[in-house]
Parts: sequence; structure tokens; C-alpha cells
Amino acid sequence: MKHYTSIRDIENINTWIEDAKALKANPLAHKTLGANKTLGLLFFNSSLRTRLSTQKAALNLSMDPIVMNVSGDAWGIEFGDGTVMNGNTAEHIKEAAAVVSQYCDIIAVRAFPTLTDKAKDESEQVLNAFVEYASVPVVNMESATGHPLQGLTDALTISEHAKISKPKVVLSWAPHVRALPHAVANSFTQAMQKMDVEFVIANPEGYDLNPEITGDTPIYHDQKAAFKDADFVYTKNWSSYEDYGKVNNTDPNWMITKAKLGNAKFMHCLPVRRNVVVEDAVLDTDSALVIQQANNRTYAAQLVLKKLLENL
Ligand code: CP
Repeated sequence: MKHYTSIRDIENINTWIEDAKALKANPLAHKTLGANKTLGLLFFNSSLRTRLSTQKAALNLSMDPIVMNVSGDAWGIEFGDGTVMNGNTAEHIKEAAAVVSQYCDIIAVRAFPTLTDKAKDESEQVLNAFVEYASVPVVNMESATGHPLQGLTDALTISEHAKISKPKVVLSWAPHVRALPHAVANSFTQAMQKMDVEFVIANPEGYDLNPEITGDTPIYHDQKAAFKDADFVYTKNWSSYEDYGKVNNTDPNWMITKAKLGNAKFMHCLPVRRNVVVEDAVLDTDSALVIQQANNRTYAAQLVLKKLLENL
């Protein structure tokens, strides 16, 4: 594996899950692997979990992490080819990626979508520019269309908490006040499609995800029907894909409640808006796996870094 940009880079998710469990059991087992190697973390957008867990993962391998908030702290980066740079951008990605590659052995990038320009978002302009112009491996820390570190984390968490061999997993949309990306939902869908689970998606009409990603996965527009016999309910808001980036529905009836959840476990990538997306009565009980998920972010990231380091 040269880069980790998508769940599609996972050749065998069951093997990866077992490898991540082994790292979790003994996080310092490969303590010298990353010695004298530097991980650059470039954030075009905010983060709590990704920023800290990926640094923690690097430290467990003795890598030196260096972090930059690109938006605001760096020169404005130009991504267009042949652009006359007489506007707000001061540095081209061709130079920026080449320069950062001299300081770092692996570069991790977070760059959210515009949610206004579907074609631009689907081209993964920022992530793909780093892949093209950096001379070192690139890790996706959430891009316009995917969050594969989160997806791997969620697969690991479900494997740890499953009580039956083929659990039923529901990805449910929930309301939100702002327009949010599709990245987490996309990567979760791709991860579940690789696992031995019964996987369905529940969302209101007009909120179906990209059909190229959902494929044959059953989509319910009736949340109650989708939740029947569920073992895990993974909740996430996303803006409309069809009416791209729009918030056309904030129906509070889609909020996750304890009554709806029944005996199922509740999952969310965090951050989550309490009593908008999910009620307190879910988050404040053992039904919620959100803190365990956040813990697993470290081991998912550590596995990815380990694989890339072994391939340098
Ligand atoms: N789940 C997740 O990626 O969290 P952050 O946005 O805080 O990194």
C-alpha cells in the first residue's frame, strides 16, 4: 500500500481488524518502527479526535509528529493547473507538497468538501493533489468524500462488540442544523460492505447517498422498519447528495431515542449534537459506544502508519 486514501485500500478488512486488535493489546510492540521518521499532519479543517489520535498513533511507533493548521497559518495554496496566481493564493500545491515531502516521511491531510460544487468535491482536488505532487505516502484524515480512518475504526469497534456472528448494522441519518459532509457515511458504508454483517441504511427521501457507494445496500426511508432487530445503529447526519449540500430536512422525528434503539448499541463518530442528533438518554448509558470508538481511532491510525512505514 503506497497511500491510505480510501476504505478501498483495505485488501482484507478481517485481517486488518485482527491486526488493529493486536496493536490495541500491545500498543508499543513496534516501538522502534517509526524512529527517526516524521509524520506531517496538515489540517485544512478543525479536528479533535483525528488530530490527537493520529499523533498518539505516531508516538506509539516512535514517529515524530508535526502539525500545521493550513487554513489560516500557511500561505493560501493554489490547486488549479495553469492558474494566473494574481488572486488570494500565494503558493502552488506543486511546490507546497514537494517542500513538505522533504520534511516528512508520511503526510496526513484533512480537507473537507465545499458542499456547493459536487464535481469539485468528487474530484478530491486537495487529497489527490497531495497524492500527485508529494513524494511520500499520503494518509486521508477526512477528505471531501471519505473518512477511511474513521471507517476502519468503526469496523474494529463493531467486531469487538458483536455478540452474534452476523450482526445487523443500521446506518441512520439524523437531523442537524448545519450542512454536513457525506464522508463518514460513505466510508462507513464501504467498510460494512466488506464485513460479514447485515447492513442497511435509513434516511429520509431526498437523502440517499451516492448510489455508486451504496450499491446494492438496502435503503429504507422508514427508520422504524430499518431498526427492526438491529444490533448496532450508527448515526450520522449528512446533507442532501441529490440536491447537493442542501439541508432540506431537519425533522426531529429522525433523532435517535432510547425507545427507538431498544437493545441495539449506538455509534457515532463524534462530535455529536446532543438532543438534536441523539437524546441524552442514549449517550449517557452503556448503549453508547462513542467513547470506545474514539479510543479505537488510535489503533486504526497506528495500523495504517505501521503498514506505510513497513513499505517505505
Ligand atoms: N470523528 C472525527 O473525525 O473527529 P474530529 O473531527 O474531531 O477529528
